[in-house]
Amino acid sequence: MKRSPADLVREEILALKAYHVPSAAGMIKLDAMENPYRLPEALREEVGHTVAGLAINRYPDPEAPELKARLREVFSIPAESGLLIGNGSDEIIAMVAQALARPGAAMLAPEPSFVMYRMNALLTRMRYVGVPLNADFTLDAGRFLDAIAEHRPALTFLAYPNNPTGNLFPEDAVARIVAAAPGFVVVDEAYHVFARRTFMARLAEFPNLMVMRTVSKLGLAGVRLGYAAAAPEWIREFDKVRPPYNVSVLTQFVAERVLTHVAALDRQAETIRDERAGLFDHLRELRGVEAFPSEANFILVRVPDADRVHAKLAARKVLVRNLNGSHPLLENCLRLTVGTPGENQLLLDALTEAL
Ligand SMILES: Cc1ncc(COP(=O)(O)O)c(C=O)c1O
Repeated sequence: MKRSPADLVREEILALKAYHVPSAAGMIKLDAMENPYRLPEALREEVGHTVAGLAINRYPDPEAPELKARLREVFSIPAESGLLIGNGSDEIIAMVAQALARPGAAMLAPEPSFVMYRMNALLTRMRYVGVPLNADFTLDAGRFLDAIAEHRPALTFLAYPNNPTGNLFPEDAVARIVAAAPGFVVVDEAYHVFARRTFMARLAEFPNLMVMRTVSKLGLAGVRLGYAAAAPEWIREFDKVRPPYNVSVLTQFVAERVLTHVAALDRQAETIRDERAGLFDHLRELRGVEAFPSEANFILVRVPDADRVHAKLAARKVLVRNLNGSHPLLENCLRLTVGTPGENQLLLDALTEAL
């Protein structure tokens, strides 16, 4: 008799729910922290020419020399650091977890934080330890340091700023954690263009530190590119885990071209930061809404009944992320991505009506 998935698939996978991406057709899409602006017209044409000239009959160069040189220049990656690229930073998280998942190894992260840390612990059979944030989502550095002493994690993730809470943990607390950790620490700077704070310049101080980033929030979410810098001896090991052709020819050359014009993306990020400030002020004025301060391109809010408000927003074609039920600290919380001024106004109108 043929065996079914239930007989053969690992139990922890059977127990999972697939990552659900709701259809955004016809919706105002404020659920996934994307940049709402497309590339300027001239740059789109340049990308078109670049794509037309690519030899897509060939596999990509696994070393991606042009792209890596551009990343180093544009993002001030120290010359003495190694550089790893991934099919999104999601893939870098997976590679680092795979490399460090010795039997019994622990992964530590604050909670709530980016869900893919825990997911990769599960996939690689690392022992996951979540250290709760305070009720206002600030980091309890003492508690985190105690957890490090107790669990001696092989791998620690700190999102800087944190997703889904949006706040930036204090730099000195993060530095103390990196210094105290006996294992490897990834500071995940997915939202660094909005926070403008980074550990990139401090890599030399910490031999166990990786600074990981993505171009997704900068305006290239569809391209799928993440990058990470750390001491070369670490990158050499993670590179062994990397599928050799993980970053496509299209991604390598489109990202390289667009990043030569990074100033255009930086201007969009600046607009988004200004919009965030305006949206935050308006949200704070809404009765029944508690808005949490954010250094990212989204704002976490608590409302009286998140499921109801989420459904009402969806009925008005506004798609946001409902976090109710995903973690006890996120009860009745919604995550609102900052959109264009027009989108933000529609969000505020819909929210006012939904409350
Ligand atoms: C903190 C954090 N890290 C990493 C990622 C993954 O980004 P990507 O795979 O698009 O590079 C995200 C995406 O939302 C995120 O919020």
